[in-house]
Amino acid sequence: MTKLNFTNALTGIFGKMITRKNPDDALAGAKKGGLEKTLGVWDLIILGVGAIIGSGIFAIVGIAAAGSADGTSPGAGPALAVSMVIAAIACVFSALCYSEFATMIPVAGGAYTYTFATLGEFAAWIVGWILMLEYAVGFIAVACAWTNHFMQFIKGFSNILPAWLCNPPLWLINDYRSAVHYCGTHGLDYHTAIPTFAGIPFSINLPAIIMIAITTAILVKGTKDSAKMAGLMVVIKLGVIALFVLAGMFYIKPENWAPFAPNGFEGIFMGAFIIFFAYIGFDALATAAEECKNPQKDLPIGILGSLVVTTVVYVLVALVLTGMLPTSGTAIPEGLFKAPMAYAMGVVHHNGIAGLISVGSLAGLTSVLLVMHMAATRVLFAMSRDNFLPHIFLKIHPKFNTPHILTMTVGIVGILGTLILDLNVATSLCNFGTFTSFIIVCVAVLILRKTEPDRERPFKVPFCPWFPLMGIVCCGGLMIFSMIIAKGDSARLSTELFAVWVIMGALIYASYGYPKNRKAEVTAECKEIAEKDEITAGI
Ligand code: ALA
Repeated sequence: MTKLNFTNALTGIFGKMITRKNPDDALAGAKKGGLEKTLGVWDLIILGVGAIIGSGIFAIVGIAAAGSADGTSPGAGPALAVSMVIAAIACVFSALCYSEFATMIPVAGGAYTYTFATLGEFAAWIVGWILMLEYAVGFIAVACAWTNHFMQFIKGFSNILPAWLCNPPLWLINDYRSAVHYCGTHGLDYHTAIPTFAGIPFSINLPAIIMIAITTAILVKGTKDSAKMAGLMVVIKLGVIALFVLAGMFYIKPENWAPFAPNGFEGIFMGAFIIFFAYIGFDALATAAEECKNPQKDLPIGILGSLVVTTVVYVLVALVLTGMLPTSGTAIPEGLFKAPMAYAMGVVHHNGIAGLISVGSLAGLTSVLLVMHMAATRVLFAMSRDNFLPHIFLKIHPKFNTPHILTMTVGIVGILGTLILDLNVATSLCNFGTFTSFIIVCVAVLILRKTEPDRERPFKVPFCPWFPLMGIVCCGGLMIFSMIIAKGDSARLSTELFAVWVIMGALIYASYGYPKNRKAEVTAECKEIAEKDEITAGI
């Protein structure tokens, strides 16, 4: 008898954990408390390019080409262009899967919503939780990179600006870990370089904090405004990248392209893993599906279009950059790791262009910040609607029509994050989160094709199951490859933090999300909509 009770309890628990949310319920929920539909196809492409082109091409490209400065990961060298194409191919398979889902279930939440429709509530919660690594932690990484570029930019005006602004104290522009690392590499005693208050060391990344506060304010004010702002940033950053390619191609020395792949396939694939960060963001479009005027047609064009535009831009930058500077050998200059394009222009004595590129980098990073912040709030919005998080997060601002409480919460968490995460760890964590969510979306497409073959699919992934399987193999392969090849403290720490994050997510689900009676509330919600909705009532 006791054994029977135990078995029943276990069946009940697992039954609830794999309860799927019918995609129609997700659509109905969006209809009830939905966000304003303001985004057209151009808004989407602009948001997509705005989300994608950022610190990856303006900063991380140097590490992908030359390897990490401490030698813990090999670089691709001039074969960086090949790494870029490999990373893009890994993204295209996932982008097709995102498009199928985004057109079938055009509601806020992206991979989270798709997982709920296919793998059940526990997997959905974990995916939503992991998506926070991609968007919220990625957003912290970009904010850290923003500080580096801002300081580089400010230094260019050192003859007209006050010294305190151009050379602020170490503890005002670094999180504690980075400040200690800086002291270690520059022969400083961190006990004296970092002040303490009540015995607690005080070191903050102030420019990143200010930037997060500004993007929070912009997003609270409205999605349409954010799209306009992102549009301006996209024009600026594409303009400076075009300037770099057009001016830089006259300084290409073919001898810099030899040897083409100094570290062989290991360097090329490690380069692809690192530069994958530069492609993150196209999936953020899927999280804004609910705000699209015509998601079925516009979303696939927005997602694939922004990916194609960025791949072309990245390959051109890779060819010009590796042609202008040597990217293998022993004497790799520090500038290549921090702000490679501006540095390369400085080397050929085009300081004016280098300055413009710095401004463009800041614009690029700002637009990525906006879109990542927006994506994080949209995923959390969908999770709150499913009762995984308190309903207070569902409040929409009466005047601006935005989820202002969630937007501000993400902003505050981002600011707290800048206190404990540095650029390297945040970037790797973001990559792990993104690879995992891409793999799950590919798996989810395969499952829903089996469980609901007749559901209307305005856009279908071609060559199913092969394309989704290719997505799983490419993303999984690059992730595992990087875990094997990359060494060093940051790589180890990010792997450990990833595991800790997933376990934390499972514990929160067990204590808060699981006890909620989700199915009953969804049904009640749908019933209420059916009663209120005139069209449904008419039928
Ligand atoms: N793709 C984004 C960037 O490069 C995350 O900053």
